[in-house]
Parts: sequence; structure tokens; C-alpha cells
Amino acid sequence: MKKLLFLLCFFTIKLSAQTIKQDSVYLFSYCSLKNDGKIGLQLAWSTDKNTWNSIGSDFGVLGSDYGTWGAQKRMLSPFLWLGADGLWHCVFSVNEKDNALAHASSVDLIAWGRQSYPVFTGSENCLLPEFTYDTKTKQYLISWLSKKGDMTEVFTTTTKDFRSYGKEQKASLSARLNLRTEVKLGEKTETGLVYKVSSAVVNKLLKHLESEKERQKLYRENLYEDTLKLANLKPLSAQVTVDFQKRKSISSTLMGIFFEDLNYAADGGLYAELIQNRDFEYKLSEKGGNDKSWTATKAWHTTGQAKLTIDSIRPIHYNNSHFAVLTTTQKGDALVAEGYEGIALKAGEAYYFSLFAKNITGKNSKLSIQLKDASGKVFAEGAVNVKGNVWQKYEISLLVKESTANAELSIVPETAGQYALDMISLFPKNTFKGRRNGLRADIAQALADLHPRFVRFPGGCVAHGNGLDNIYKWKNTIGKLEERKPMFNLWGYHQSMGIGYGEYFDFCEDIGAQPLPVIAAGVCCQNSSVGGAGQQGGIPMEQMDSYIQDILDLIEWANGDLTTKWGKVRAMNGHIKPYNLKYIGIGNEDLITDLFEERFRMIFKAIKAKYPEIIVIGTVGPWSEGTDYVEGWKLANEINIPMVDEHYYQSPGWFINNQDYYDNYDRSKSKVYLGEYAAHIGGRANNLHTSLVEALHLNSLERNGDVVSMSSYAPLLAKEGHTQWKPDLIFFNNTEVKTTVDYEVQKLYGVHAGESYIASQVELSDKDSYLQKRVSVSVVEDSKTKDLIIKLVNVLPTSVDTKLNLKEFDFLPEALKITLAGKLKDTKVTPMESKQSVVPSFSTNLPAHSLTVLRLHRKK
Ligand code: AHR
Repeated sequence: MKKLLFLLCFFTIKLSAQTIKQDSVYLFSYCSLKNDGKIGLQLAWSTDKNTWNSIGSDFGVLGSDYGTWGAQKRMLSPFLWLGADGLWHCVFSVNEKDNALAHASSVDLIAWGRQSYPVFTGSENCLLPEFTYDTKTKQYLISWLSKKGDMTEVFTTTTKDFRSYGKEQKASLSARLNLRTEVKLGEKTETGLVYKVSSAVVNKLLKHLESEKERQKLYRENLYEDTLKLANLKPLSAQVTVDFQKRKSISSTLMGIFFEDLNYAADGGLYAELIQNRDFEYKLSEKGGNDKSWTATKAWHTTGQAKLTIDSIRPIHYNNSHFAVLTTTQKGDALVAEGYEGIALKAGEAYYFSLFAKNITGKNSKLSIQLKDASGKVFAEGAVNVKGNVWQKYEISLLVKESTANAELSIVPETAGQYALDMISLFPKNTFKGRRNGLRADIAQALADLHPRFVRFPGGCVAHGNGLDNIYKWKNTIGKLEERKPMFNLWGYHQSMGIGYGEYFDFCEDIGAQPLPVIAAGVCCQNSSVGGAGQQGGIPMEQMDSYIQDILDLIEWANGDLTTKWGKVRAMNGHIKPYNLKYIGIGNEDLITDLFEERFRMIFKAIKAKYPEIIVIGTVGPWSEGTDYVEGWKLANEINIPMVDEHYYQSPGWFINNQDYYDNYDRSKSKVYLGEYAAHIGGRANNLHTSLVEALHLNSLERNGDVVSMSSYAPLLAKEGHTQWKPDLIFFNNTEVKTTVDYEVQKLYGVHAGESYIASQVELSDKDSYLQKRVSVSVVEDSKTKDLIIKLVNVLPTSVDTKLNLKEFDFLPEALKITLAGKLKDTKVTPMESKQSVVPSFSTNLPAHSLTVLRLHRKK
């Protein structure tokens, strides 16, 4: 251990920040084009304007939040100047083509406020912006260049506050300040601005940089490295003390699940429908034109001389405007559904086949329906009699004789002719809880086994969409399947809306979980790639009333009785009793801009006025810190949002070093819903390593269960071969469900949850803090059984013999012990149950790299 301490001290000494002694220095601001402008605003300092020192190598003090990840979030030619208000204002170009500028300001060049992106419609693009302050008119005069072909124009505008701007005006080149200058930084020459500043400004920046480096070093800690660093560590001992006098109530809804249709989680996943593209609504644009097969005929083919065309004249419903036209000239030719890369069938089970059909020739005729594999082997068959040239729904049940993973469904007209076909569907009868239009039983059961207290849906980014037109609208997802409005899924595929709000709410009811719908806050995803500046457009103000009405209607649909308009709709759709909705999320990790705030406030006010009993959950951005987090919390505190949704995907080191993250949260302010989190490690694996650092975090969530009301790991589901995001909690294919180690951890916390937290501590025999923070305890009491549940996490590469002192003792002598332990890279670890003898003071062994749950039963 001594060696490790020495290394840490050495590191600290080496990193201690350089301090500039003289009163003032020169500061240079620029943005290198390295990495396409994604490093953001960079700074350097000099005492003589000749020799320049970078403040961090490739270190950006401000990054652009404009546009989509990957292609955008760029900063070009920043113009940084100290404003008349004492703030540093940075105005920059967002790219070479958009007619928007970006602005952000800061007191100290370290913490930056909201970004805004004023759009100047008269300008082609906004390049090389600069500004000056006019003391007479007390406004900033901004100018930029607009380039089209060989033509360059100068535009100007004015602003008093960088929030509202005057209409852009054309100006002459003489309006330009041309203050940018070239500076040699090492081998490179950069273009930017030079100013004289007090050295205190630069000293603070240098100090910040050093502490940032230290922090990042902590966040790079991981258990793989520990196995080398701590290779000589001998087994340790520890003492757990439990103070039964110090109790607090904690949330009964701490453990929940986050469902988003990402990674084929819905269609082809949880939704039990076996026919892909049943509605013939797939479009090339859903995959950006990159997959030429992604059309209305995707996952369908014909045999023999049969022809498949797509029509949209007189569809079943305008929301579902395309349908198939099958033309056959000879008996036996068929239209074949491929399913989701095959249709899995189980022997002895019944399947409901249905379709809408009409015989275009007007005659009555028979369609024979066959489930068979490529070799022609038939697993089930039946027939429907199509009557005339009017859309009608036909339905039959098919009994499968033998299991297969790879069947196809053939529709074979007995008489040659022309048939219009749509909504061609095949469902297992055996769905979760046997619901029609239900969920795949095995996946839904894996979710139910987590014992989630709530289900968040429909996202994630799916909730607020890619561009305003892609915002998820609940009303498009209820009622008859053929009348629902399918939509592009921003993860690059199709949402049939077969799972809609009714199905989500029913599932919650089936598993005893609270529904938690998340609705866009009047803005689309901040990473939108369509609609120009994406979220920055926001729903136009003139449409906000109707948008808000839709949200109020949702609450009425969920909770209204039969005398209400939307309560009646719910009942007509099959659910007579209200669902008792308690929570509604508004926004999903949005950029906290003025535009967002304006819309959020309107929605929040309307819900509060009409449904004060509903707990509105706001949003504080996509990170555990930074501008959106700070600004989101500021707004929450100002308008008393009952709860806010925090998101963070972090390294193991972050979890190890942030076990106190919530310890100092103000208990009188908004509660927290940790809506998305997961440990991300190299290769984005799910293994014992990630799951154990998540367990460390879960112990701290329980300890802070008086302020953290809800939490959900994200994402939840991923289909093998269609995974856009890793890690995930559960993987599956057409026949199997493969739970991860992270799933096992979530399940242990879900099943062994408590509503009362009892103060406890674990102290290692070795007092080294590096070791100490790798062992954690949480003690809760289950209010129903009064069982005492002790969760012990040991992420050290050695075992810890742990003594527990229970001063108040009225437990049965035999407790349940569950141990999840293995090798860090294990992707499958099964929790092992054993018996633990308990007396007021007893010992238990925590294996290296383990989570141990002790469940002590009270004497009756
Ligand atoms: O969980 C995957 C994505 O991560 C969610 O859609 C989004 O909210 C977050 O960025």
C-alpha cells in the first residue's frame, strides 16, 4: 500500500498548478480546427506576446452544443470579449453553412451559462463573427460574413443582452473590426484574439485545469487496474456497525425500469408481433436512404410469378396509408412474410393470424395461410375466405405442431387474381398475461422479475424525437391498430406503434408498477439532425396551446372517469377503470435554453393548475454536471418542480469516487429521479466489473433514498444484431432472453428493497481511503415483512472477513445470504443463495469482487 501512496503524493506534487506572479498577462482565445472544431474554445497565455503557453493541451473551456452528435457540436472562429456587464461573451460560428450564430457567457471562463443560437434568415451562413459594445446606445453590435459562391456579404445586428437581436442588416466591409490575429503556439499557428487580463484570471484557469486533471485521473480508476495495483493485498477484515436509532424513510419507488424503443426493443422485441412491416409503412428515409431494402416491401417477398406492389388509394385508414397489392396468375404463388429474420414458433402453441384484405376483382376467394420453413416443411396452416372488394378483417388461429426458430408465413391465394392486403399479423396466443396484442412472455417476465416499482416510457430520445415532426404523440398510439400512426424511430428504424400508451399502461398494471410517461417539453432532441438547429426551433408558440392540451388530455385519459371525454376513450379501448397515473416526465435531458424554459414553464403551469396532484418530473440535462445540470437545477429550484430527471453514463472510476454524490443534496428542494445511468467501460461491455460499481452506486442511492425517489438503469433491452447502444440490461434474440450481470444486480436491489434506511458504516482494518471506498454497506428494512436487508459490496481483489454488530437483535438465527461474485470480465454470473447463521455479533465473508445480500427475518 505504501508504494501506492507514494505514487499518489508524487502525482499531486507534480501536478500542483503553476502560478503567474506578475499582475497582468496576455490571453489568447482561439479554436483549433483539429478535430473539426469539436474541441471548442481554447486559451493560451503569454507575458510578452511572443512565447505562448497553452492552457491544457486540446483543452476546451467551452464546447458547442449545436446540432447533432458526431457531425455537429462544432465551434468555428470564436470571438471572445469581456462585455460591458463584466461577463466574458463568446460568439461563434456553428458550422460553415447554417445561418445561425452561437452565444454563451461566463464569469470566469470556467463555468458557462446557457447557449443560444439566434438565426438570421437573410444571411446565407454566419462566418467569422465579431462584436463591439456601443456605450452610447448600450448595445452590442455584432457583424459576420455571409458567403455564397464567390460572393461575400457583411451583415450586422444589435443586441442588448444576447437574448433578443435586431433584424440583420447588410453592411459594408468597413463595419468589420478585424481584430483576429495569428499566434504561434508550439509548431502551430492559430488565429484568434489577444487581450490583456489580470493574472488572476489565468491563475484561476490553470488551477482549474490541474484539479480537472486530478479528477479525471480518479475517474480513470478501474478494477482491472486494481488487480495489478493491489496484487499483493492480503485478505482484509472489516467491521459493520448499524445504528438502529438513526432511521429515515426512503422512497418505495427507488427501483424502476426505463423502456425505450432502441435496439429493436419494441417491434421485433417486447412487442409479441411476429410479422415485420405488417403495415407496409417502412420508408427509405427511416434509414436515411442508406439501406435500399428498407422500403414498404421490406421483409416480404413473393414466390413463382406473384407480384407485390404497394398502393395507397383507399387505404384502411389514412394514418396507415400504404397497403400491399398481391397479383397472382397461377395457383400456389404466394406472398411471404419473413418476420424479423425468421419467425420463431413453439410446438403445441396457438398463434393468431389476422389480416385486412379485399379481393380487387370483387369475387369471393380463399387465401390459404401456411407457416413453413425454407425447405417447405409446414408447421401450421389454415385459410381465410376473402369476401369481395371491401376492406375486412379476417382472423384465424393456427396450432403449431413443431418448434422452429426460422419459419416464414405464406399467403397463398387459391384463385389467381388481385388482392389488397394490410395489417398482416401473427401473434402467439401465449403473450405476457395472455393479453391480445400483448408482449413477448419471456421478455416481459424478465422485466417483471426485476420487481420494478415504475416503468418509464417511451424514452429517452424517442420521447422528444429527431426534429419537431418526430416528437412522440401519445394520441397516435392508442385504439385500433390499423388507425394508429406509425412513425420513424430516431434510432434509425420504424415504430409500428403496436405498443402504444394503452399497452404500456396495461403492462404497468400487470406487474404492479407505476406508469411514468415522458413527454417532450415542447422541444425535440437536442441532437436532432433535421429542422436546422434541431431543438432550437421549439414548437411554434401558436401551437403550444394545443400541444399542452394533448398533455392534459393524457392525464384525463389515464385518470378520468367515464364522464370525461378521454376517460371514455380509454374505456372504449378496453380499460374501464382509471389507471391512477401519478407521475409525468416533461422533457428528456434537453439543452436548458431560453426556448426550452419558456415551453417547459407553460406546460408545468398548465398541469399544476389542472392536476395539482400529478408529480411533474423536470429535466436537468444529459450529464452529472455542467451547464444544463446547473441551469436545469436553477429552474427547478425557482419554480419548485417536484422532481427532476438526472442522466449520466459514467466510467467505473466516476462511480467509485462519487459515492457521496447525493449526500449533500438539499432535502428541501426537488427530489431526484435518476432516469438513466450505467457504468461504461472499454468495449462498452456488461460484466461483473460494471455491475459491481453500479452496486456501489445503488448502495449510495439507498442511503440517499430520502432525496432520490426513483432510479432506472438504461437502456433496458437490446436485440442481438440490432444493437445501436451498449451496454444494455437485457439482450435477446427471437428465441432467447439473455440477462446480464448488471441485470442480476438490479434484480437483487429490486427484490430486496426497503422503505426504511438504517444508518450503517463499514470500516476496513486497513484505513487507506483508496481501499475503504471500495467496500460499501447499505441497510434497509422492508416495511411489509420487517426483514432487515444488508447489502455489502466489495470491489477489492481480495476477500473481506466482515463482522456485523447488531445492537438491536430480534432476528431468527438463520438468514438468507445471496452472493454474486466472480471474475471481473465475467458476463454471466448467477447469484448463489446460502444460509447465514446470525447472532447479535456475527461474521460473514465477502469474496473478492462481490455483492452480498443478507436478509434477516424478524422473530414473529
Ligand atoms: O439510453 C439511451 C439514450 O441515452 C436515451 O435515448 C437518451 O435519453 C440518452 O442520451
